[in-house]
Amino acid sequence: MSEGLAHTTVLLNEAVEALAIKPDGIYVDGTFGRGGHSALILERLGSNGRLIALDKDPAAVAAGKAWRDARFQMVHRGFAKLAEVLSELGVAKVDGATRRCEASGAGAPSSTFSRTGGLCPTVLKVDGILLDLGVSSPQLDDAARGFSFRFDAPLDMRMDTSSGMTAAQWLATVDEALLAEVIRDYGEERFAKQIARAVVAARAIEPINTTRQLVELVGKAVRTREPGQNPATRTFQAIRIYLNEELEELARVLPECVTHMQTGGRLVVISFHSLEDRIVKHFMRDMAEGDKLPRNVPIRASEVPRGRLKLVGKAVRAGEAELQANPRARSAVMRVAERSDVA
Ligand SMILES: C[S@@+](CC[C@H](N)C(=O)[O-])C[C@H]1O[C@@H](n2cnc3c(N)ncnc32)[C@H](O)[C@@H]1O
Repeated sequence: MSEGLAHTTVLLNEAVEALAIKPDGIYVDGTFGRGGHSALILERLGSNGRLIALDKDPAAVAAGKAWRDARFQMVHRGFAKLAEVLSELGVAKVDGATRRCEASGAGAPSSTFSRTGGLCPTVLKVDGILLDLGVSSPQLDDAARGFSFRFDAPLDMRMDTSSGMTAAQWLATVDEALLAEVIRDYGEERFAKQIARAVVAARAIEPINTTRQLVELVGKAVRTREPGQNPATRTFQAIRIYLNEELEELARVLPECVTHMQTGGRLVVISFHSLEDRIVKHFMRDMAEGDKLPRNVPIRASEVPRGRLKLVGKAVRAGEAELQANPRARSAVMRVAERSDVA
């Protein structure tokens, strides 16, 4: 089990600063992990503030459920289900609803929100959402999770161990062409076809049930080595991304974040590889541009359509000191955007 395995939070201060926490605001940590960001968010919140944390991983959820803080709520759900979670908790889409609830005497946020399932007749938007994507150190460092080629373990790789197919189950039946496509697209692996062929040949002899089996057959199929990298790195990344629907969930949640944030609310996303970062970057840029008008339409500057998001600063990377202390921060890229008042 991953108990006792720690996660060193990446861009901790930078991400929480970027959320521009209001003491009585409502925040979502969509990727709780071991709660590094959540703990600092709670430190910055006052007694009426609220933090809702989500994670797919039952081990992360168990860690969060052990926290005793009336302002905090841990939910076992993928962040693509953000809208569903907020609606179940009585937090949803009407601007200014916080104020209306308080004015109507329906109760302070603690009674209008969450635990009671929404005494408040109207619904609330949130003030900030953080997504710190990918896997946590406890997931990578717990051999039994099967995420890592460093250990010999059952080939699982599910973030949510309570549902879905393990990597071993998937590799037992996946079509060779699909496997090659996944390894090429999500692993950016040049030898994807050769690896897929090797998997199909190997499973005809015996099932591929362990990380070691996969490492060995990928090692034989990959002909050129990248310095300092295990030849199986890209294949493991690809299978993990595919099985956990990491890119699909990200693409699904981003528009939900915009819908469910108050004006001035901040969306902070930390990505760990270029496929994720591309989705975040394009989404934020497109949402910041607003509706495109046909060329040469004669309008005043004040009439130029504005987007639903405003970009906040440039992409942020970990500084030297953090990289020294935590090499896993080297691929992290943080992007921040603020909800504008455009409906
Ligand atoms: C990089 S860790 C987050 C670490 C956390 N910020 C901390 O400081 O402890 C990513 C976490 O997000 C979770 N996760 C990844 N994709 C998810 C998704 N689509 N929905 C919910 N949780 C997800 C993983 O299970 C993992 O626990």
